[in-house]
Amino acid sequence: MRPLNVAVLAAGEGKRLRGAQPKVLTPIWGRPSVAWPVSVALELGPERLVVVAGDHREAIASVLPEGRAEVVIQDEPLGTGHAVLAAAPALEGAEGTLLILYGDCPLLPAELLRAVAEAREAEDADVALVTVELDDPTGYGRILRRPDGRVGAIVEEKDATEEQRAVREVNAGIWAVKLPDALEALRQVGRDNAQGEVYLTDLAELTVSAGGVVVAVPWDRPQDVLGFNDQPELAQVRSILRRRIVDRHLAAGVEIVDPDTTYIDAEVTIEPGARILPCTMIEGRVSIATRCEVGPFTHLRDGTVMERGSRVGNFTETKKTVLGEGVKANHLTYLGDARIGAGTNIGAGTITANYDGRHKHPTEIGERVFIGSGTVLVAPTRVEDDGMTGAGAIVKRNTTIGPGEVWVGLPAHRLRSRQTSGGPESRG
Ligand code: UD1
Ligand code: MG
Repeated sequence: MRPLNVAVLAAGEGKRLRGAQPKVLTPIWGRPSVAWPVSVALELGPERLVVVAGDHREAIASVLPEGRAEVVIQDEPLGTGHAVLAAAPALEGAEGTLLILYGDCPLLPAELLRAVAEAREAEDADVALVTVELDDPTGYGRILRRPDGRVGAIVEEKDATEEQRAVREVNAGIWAVKLPDALEALRQVGRDNAQGEVYLTDLAELTVSAGGVVVAVPWDRPQDVLGFNDQPELAQVRSILRRRIVDRHLAAGVEIVDPDTTYIDAEVTIEPGARILPCTMIEGRVSIATRCEVGPFTHLRDGTVMERGSRVGNFTETKKTVLGEGVKANHLTYLGDARIGAGTNIGAGTITANYDGRHKHPTEIGERVFIGSGTVLVAPTRVEDDGMTGAGAIVKRNTTIGPGEVWVGLPAHRLRSRQTSGGPESRG
């Protein structure tokens, strides 16, 4: 199946989403939307991979794997066909198949991409495209079949007649086209439609009328191709991906007590034999070793490393923190920018005060340390092996608690009497 090239379209404005950031940068389980189709396309080992970006070129480039994707600019978002043409200079001299994907379709499996590329090659077709049947096809381009059953054209929702809108077979937005011919054909597509755009979808009808071959690749799992144009669709895409990530960990031997309330980002690694309790969110790059226990009601954030047999319990948040073997932080705790040595116990309500309003500072805790309940460790601070703090200790910044030392304080003391309007007896 050679040679293969890929274009991922990511220059649209995403107006319907009304999001805080450009649509294709929407984070979905720790990865921006566009990085999902890019990473699955890279599994196929393409010769060139081009991402078509709009104004947010730098932002897009920064979330792609370095050196493996070229970012090109589409000056104005004049449609999906126009976006493919923006990639043409970067595809100069390329032959074989161009796989075209949309940056708002993060659910694509590699086997589907292989299927459409192979379908094009098998017949040396000009165009192969994936179609699915949706119960609710609203918003998608409808596939118009000819009397002989072959694809004749695609009509976009906004251009469709009522009769055409009733068609439930839609364009999934996954294309394999012949290089360089398809790029030549695309140059002939006009903008005479409801949105005044150069539609990639017009390539189907154009190819058919020029006597070329268009093959449809029907796919029976619509959940693999869903895109998102608005918030309800984004929520649906997130929910499907969330469950896939959880299922992957279950299949690998991770115990997840309640898959329905467990949220795990794509880059998280968990060894078999770890146990995840309900209502738990694990974000960013986190690694969890075997025999660890997380949850219930726990938030592990980017840079958390849990070594063998460590445990993080309820209402506890960690960020950029390494928990050594057997460390326990079981209740109501915040650990940020900390390193905690093996066998240490972090008491309920411990806080690493890592942020002074301007900078983040580290906390170093050694092995077999006992941190008493309600301790505040103002960073930077250091507790050496076998050290201990008493309940409620406030450890000031730049402190080092030496090996085996026990520190306590600040004890509460009487400050003054309260000024109230009446005595206790005046209250009902
Ligand atoms: C598109 C298809 C529709 C298909 C649906 C599948 C066209 C004309 N329509 O519609 O048939 O059923 O996807 O999800 O292709 N983009 C650009 N530049 C542009 C416009 C869009 O790069 O000028 C990018 C967007 O960033 C997005 C992708 O192309 O990632 C698709 O654009 P979008 O506006 O979402 O198209 P749909 O209306 O969903
Ligand atoms: Mg879309």
